[in-house]
Amino acid sequence: MNAYDAKRISDTLVAHNFEQAFDATEAEILIFYTCNIRERAVQKLFSNIGLLRNENTKVIAVGGCVAQAEKSNIFQHKHINIAFGAQTYHRLPEHIEDVLAGKRRQILDIEFDQAQKFECLPERKNVSFSEFVTIQEGCDNFCTYCVVPYTRGREYSRPAKDIIEEVKSLLSRGTKEITLIGQNVNSYHGEAPYISIGKPKETWRLERLIREIAELDGLRRLRYTTSHPKDFTTELMRVHADVPVLVPFAHIPVQSGNDRILNAMNRGHTAQEYMDKIAKFQDICPRIQFSSDFIVGFPSETEEEFADTVRLAELVGYTISFSFKYSRRKNTPADKMAGQIPDETKERRLAILQQALLKDQICHNNALVGQTQEVLFEKVGRKPNQYIGKNVYLQSVIVESNVNLIGQFKNVKIETAGENSVMGKVVE
Ligand code: 5AD
Ligand code: SF4
Repeated sequence: MNAYDAKRISDTLVAHNFEQAFDATEAEILIFYTCNIRERAVQKLFSNIGLLRNENTKVIAVGGCVAQAEKSNIFQHKHINIAFGAQTYHRLPEHIEDVLAGKRRQILDIEFDQAQKFECLPERKNVSFSEFVTIQEGCDNFCTYCVVPYTRGREYSRPAKDIIEEVKSLLSRGTKEITLIGQNVNSYHGEAPYISIGKPKETWRLERLIREIAELDGLRRLRYTTSHPKDFTTELMRVHADVPVLVPFAHIPVQSGNDRILNAMNRGHTAQEYMDKIAKFQDICPRIQFSSDFIVGFPSETEEEFADTVRLAELVGYTISFSFKYSRRKNTPADKMAGQIPDETKERRLAILQQALLKDQICHNNALVGQTQEVLFEKVGRKPNQYIGKNVYLQSVIVESNVNLIGQFKNVKIETAGENSVMGKVVE
């Protein structure tokens, strides 16, 4: 989502006659867009400012969740002029103008103003073959470890019409792959584009939005992220089975495999309920593969409770996973919980879990050998004539080619598998 926001910030500034610099040394305005989800966010920000600030710097702006969480404390760094939130970046051009004109030296703008922000953003520029589209922002779930409900605000779903227009405009300019994004994307409930006479105004769920977007001309591949297990409906599983452009891949973070911990995290489901959804999904859409996020060392997590997480991961057999040590975040309920776990224990548990997850990932990659997979190529590899792309499961696929493949879909016969990528040959 920060990548999406950063692009929209750049579009907004260009629309106000600012120009993008090629590197920080020649930039007069430095904008840092930040994430606060895990530790040391503020230190990382301050050290990056130290690295990039130079004699040409006239304005330093800090946006996103660190600004939102730190509020005016951020100005303890004396070179920061503007702190703006994830919901106020449409007003950044005027703030920069004010600082440049010497009208104000420090500006704090961290309101929650999602609807207004989206209305004010200019048309997308610098369109690529693969693009994110934000459909929903914020979160009402209040998992006890998480800062997002405080920094991104309450849930907001963009009207379906605006999303469809944004997607159509991207497709008309050559985008082939779209990823619909939201902090809690499968709780999307946006205003429907039309009114049925005699009926109250409808809202669309993600399921309906995907079915409509999938019909648009030019779309080759559709993804969405990130979802919450409790909002995962049977209908969404059916959409995966029915809609060919939607990838047979779902990121459904489980965080822990133990019921007491899931409850303490306020996740709203048990391990068995999660497993039941996975089984049902596999039943409805046999090609489906999963990825997940995990947190180890949540306050008071015992060795047995941690072992439940490893067991659940092994049972599901995830294609890719993202696992983290629990990180204490200011003003979240878990920060005040008894039984904070020492870092060495978290470190050890993370290594054990990651070893189990890697085994599944390697197993998945090995199973691809001999298969032909559709790959969208994104960048060059390290060796000459190497190109790297992604298959439907977000796995990296490497091939050799004398022609530039970037931005193209190709069928690739997979020949060898590694831990984090597979290699193969383009087949016509
Ligand atoms: N500590 C560690 N990991 C966290 N995440 C969110 N908050 C924390 C935290 N305080 C992880 C969760 C989430 C992912 C985006 O980041 O696994 O799904
Ligand atoms: Fe954070 Fe996701 Fe929980 Fe929302 S659902 S509070 S974003 S972890």
